Amino acid sequence: MSEKRRDICALVLSAGKGTRMKSPIPKVLHTLLGEHMLWYVHQGIMQVIKEDHIFYVLGYMAELIENTLSFVRGNVVYQTEQLGTGHALQCAYPHLMKQGFKWCLIVNGDVPLLDIGRVNSFIEEVIQKRVSMGLMTITLDDPRGYGRIVRDSSGNLLSIVEEKDISTNEVRGIKEVNAGVYIVNLEGIKDYLNGLTNDNAQKEYYLPQLVELLLKDNKEILAKESGNDKAFLGINSGRELIECEEILRQRIIDQAFDSGVVIYNPSQVRIGPKVKFQTGSVITGPVELYGDTKIESGVSIDSHVWIKDSEVCSGTRIYSFSHIEGAIIGPNSKIGPFARLRPGTRLIEGVKVGNFVEVKKSVLNKGVKASHLTYLGDSFIDKDTNIGAGTITCNYDGKSKHVTHIGKSVFVGSNTSLVAPVKVGDNALIGAGSTITKDVPNGALAIARGRQKNLNKRIKS
Ligand code: UD1
Ligand code: MG
Repeated sequence: MSEKRRDICALVLSAGKGTRMKSPIPKVLHTLLGEHMLWYVHQGIMQVIKEDHIFYVLGYMAELIENTLSFVRGNVVYQTEQLGTGHALQCAYPHLMKQGFKWCLIVNGDVPLLDIGRVNSFIEEVIQKRVSMGLMTITLDDPRGYGRIVRDSSGNLLSIVEEKDISTNEVRGIKEVNAGVYIVNLEGIKDYLNGLTNDNAQKEYYLPQLVELLLKDNKEILAKESGNDKAFLGINSGRELIECEEILRQRIIDQAFDSGVVIYNPSQVRIGPKVKFQTGSVITGPVELYGDTKIESGVSIDSHVWIKDSEVCSGTRIYSFSHIEGAIIGPNSKIGPFARLRPGTRLIEGVKVGNFVEVKKSVLNKGVKASHLTYLGDSFIDKDTNIGAGTITCNYDGKSKHVTHIGKSVFVGSNTSLVAPVKVGDNALIGAGSTITKDVPNGALAIARGRQKNLNKRIKS
């Protein structure tokens, strides 16, 4: 991409509720493969427009959007009443002019698949031709829901007619539609923006009405037909959200195959856009990988595994039904089946975390084994220690969390409770069924349980 221009900004229209989603949260906060809709739009635009020149029009639940997405903060223009896309631009206009921008790329916030390569060439063409306004169009087999592009017999643009305002079958049948991506010359639209009216089926001020107003005055508009694929699909309903997500999912699966990952049952594998792979891993779906996850080479991930914001190092195998978030799993480790690794888990190398073991905010050093039915929270466990089945770190006293420190080559017998804060020294041995409340010195055998009594059984005769 060419060097980013200083005189162009971007405006992302994201103030609407998204009524057709029939959801309490704003439309742009819905997610595709674990990332918010607006994140995709931002990522795309950032490639061609300077990040601090990207502005968001927010209205419905603006505060929730600002709290959720850090990139919008500080770059928000408010539209307190959502009176239409044209009104959204009217709200932002003085703000953009004050900052001295000449051009503005306007994008609907519900177009996450945005093909930014094409947007970039479009920007260049509009600027080079010095037209007052440019808009991208796409041709769809099913144009329902979109504004239809009406042209005369020579192909000259006449107007955009919104779905709800269509009165003739001829217009209804038009397959070329407005993609919701525009560039305006801010000075060039100045005298027209306030001329928008709301005498239409939705009683809204439509941004596309600018077309008619400019054309009436013989201003030049570039309506660029840019293909018939799905790169500019708008999301207005739950069904469309899933349709877009599926396109994205398949793209990411293809990229993963290209980067040398073998994926069995790929139709049931969901990989987020930020996930990174080295070559030579094997995944068997259904599997979900999200967030800032990194999978190194030679990793095996079995079916029904869910991973978010985690790093899995080379040679590690994750067995089925494991749930992993915010963890770093060192090389050559074995996790699961049915393991749960929570944020702050750090497994150094060759660690085994077996079935029904939960680990939270803990470091397990090289060679540690916790094979069955265990909870390790706020703990540090040193090299080659074996944690017996049913071991629990009692890290919470009802008010605060406390740390359990277990040394090297310790053997913790089954069904042990370690009441934190507590330290177990290197090479110690803890008898099964112990409740450890005091520190255990290096090399000691600690037993803390009721002594067994074998009494004579009274037999009633
Ligand atoms: C819009 C276009 C339509 C185009 C389609 C492409 C209008 C009137 N119609 O229709 O021609 O084919 O996009 O996807 O523009 N928004 C605000 N403030 C408002 C209203 C909407 O910020 O007052 C935002 C929404 O949050 C959304 C975007 O503008 O992100 C588009 O609004 P939406 O209601 O989805 O318009 P469409 O009916 O899809
Ligand atoms: Mg829309």
